[in-house]
Amino acid sequence: MTRIAIIIGSTRPVRNGEAVAGWVHDLAVKRGDADYELVDLKDYDLPHLDESLPAAAGVYEHEHTRAWAERIASFDGFVFVTPEYNSSTSGVLKNAIDFLFSEWADKAAGFVGYGVDGGVRAAEHLRQMLGRVKVADVSAQVALSLFTDFEEMTVFKPAARHEDAVTAMLDQVVSWSEALRPLRV
Ligand SMILES: Cc1cc2nc3c(=O)[nH]c(=O)nc-3n(C[C@H](O)[C@H](O)[C@H](O)COP(=O)(O)O)c2cc1C
Repeated sequence: MTRIAIIIGSTRPVRNGEAVAGWVHDLAVKRGDADYELVDLKDYDLPHLDESLPAAAGVYEHEHTRAWAERIASFDGFVFVTPEYNSSTSGVLKNAIDFLFSEWADKAAGFVGYGVDGGVRAAEHLRQMLGRVKVADVSAQVALSLFTDFEEMTVFKPAARHEDAVTAMLDQVVSWSEALRPLRV
């Protein structure tokens, strides 16, 4: 079965990302078309990038890198649930991406952003950086507003219409993840 990671892109003690990712995961598992797993960067506790060689070399000297690599390598595609911090994605997510290369490559990704303007600037930056690690980014995107999809910017209450956006995004992530499979052997 195709395996899709739903990656929680924030690690703050009080974070909206966990509720957003949980909502995406709940919608995803109902589809029955792939295995969907939540991946929480908090579980990996990666330091600032501390590998001697660039990830493209494929030589990882640290156990924390090998554990992260093993988890990401197990997936066929990704959904990045990203906050917007200072008009970009989070530093912790950028750092986690930088740690690896082949584990991301030739796989598909979709984006669920949240912020004042739906996290669209964060998702755009992610698209740009993921292109460098050979991730195919799908066009359908979910954009959640801190003003209309959260109460007091902290209690997640998404408008119903976003469920259709999640469906469209996951349709594309699954089909592209499967279409790219021949490149990954
Ligand atoms: C350091 C920081 C910078 C932020 N910058 C932006 C921003 O540029 N644009 C925006 O829409 N929201 C911005 N926000 C608001 C966040 O999108 C919002 O707090 C969101 O809930 C953060 O995700 P998290 O709760 O999962 O960490 C910022 C928040 C933080 C903590």
